[in-house]
Amino acid sequence: MKEIGGYFGIELSQYRREYHTGSARYNTFRSALCDLLANSNYSEIYMPYFNCPDVEEKIRIEFPELVIINYEVDNNLEPINSDGSKLDWRLLDQRSLFYYVNYFGLKSNFIESELDNCLIDNAHSFFSKPVKNNHTIYSARKFFGVPDGAYLSTSLKLSDDLDEHDCRNAFSHLLGRQAINARKYYHKYMENEKTLAHANVRSMSKLSQTILSSIDYELVRSKRVDNFYYLHSKLEPINLLSDLISDSCHSLNFSPLSYPLLLKGKGEIIRKFLIDNGIYVPSLWRRFIERDEPRCEFKNIIHIPIDQRYCLKDMKQVLGVLKSVIKEI
Ligand SMILES: Cc1ncc(COP(=O)(O)O)c(C=O)c1O
Repeated sequence: MKEIGGYFGIELSQYRREYHTGSARYNTFRSALCDLLANSNYSEIYMPYFNCPDVEEKIRIEFPELVIINYEVDNNLEPINSDGSKLDWRLLDQRSLFYYVNYFGLKSNFIESELDNCLIDNAHSFFSKPVKNNHTIYSARKFFGVPDGAYLSTSLKLSDDLDEHDCRNAFSHLLGRQAINARKYYHKYMENEKTLAHANVRSMSKLSQTILSSIDYELVRSKRVDNFYYLHSKLEPINLLSDLISDSCHSLNFSPLSYPLLLKGKGEIIRKFLIDNGIYVPSLWRRFIERDEPRCEFKNIIHIPIDQRYCLKDMKQVLGVLKSVIKEI
């Protein structure tokens, strides 16, 4: 029976709706992928080298019989064979799953026009709608302050009896960041990430679902886009990813993860300088960076935060810091 009265819990508006209604809910992207694989009969999966290594590791552990074939991407972040020719996933048979990452949220146009019967990793592109005939997975933690949360859109029948993820001990980093600062609670964030890496396949916690039902998504999206375009208007002439960005930024529901900045050879120095000045630019993906991987130029991309917490004044501040290390701006 529902409890009536007593003390209050956290007050969150539940009068809005989640963005991905109609999708299955999970604790993590990796869980969604595991459930998809458990409910299908793929015998092999094509995965890009350039990806979050935790995803591949999880599959290797949970599905040891599944054959993993790695592929590379070209300078437009599109799939190629080892000889540099375009990789044609249409030639794969029914039991092969082709996994493609919507890198930094910049590849939605490519996905919409080219991909069919594939798995789209939209961990970097929360606002992109699922594309018909593909399986699509989203992870909420990169876009919102939630302890867990992922969505899977597919026509496959999935498990409907999953236990709920227990997130009661996973709020310290979120509350600590709000009350004090991010630096002090970073270890708590890492603790939660470690817990999630080992978590079983679970449905999204009710708390995350409640938080995700309280967000003004249109406001979030427009703030991100405004910040992105402002930075791009200033950094376009020196950003080696400018062509890629111009091709991508007109897609419907465009709302990228960050502003990706690639400069000749200086990535690591600038990244460190920004962090020392309190501008936290993540490295995607640390373990990929440490390995000797072929697409090494992508290691130097600086991911400048453009999310809903910030406005143009903050973007100007970021540019000011960048100006002190990059003469060309
Ligand atoms: C592109 C991409 N896909 C998937 C994941 C895994 O998401 P989760 O931690 O929700 O399993 C990540 C995590 O960093 C990612 O960057």
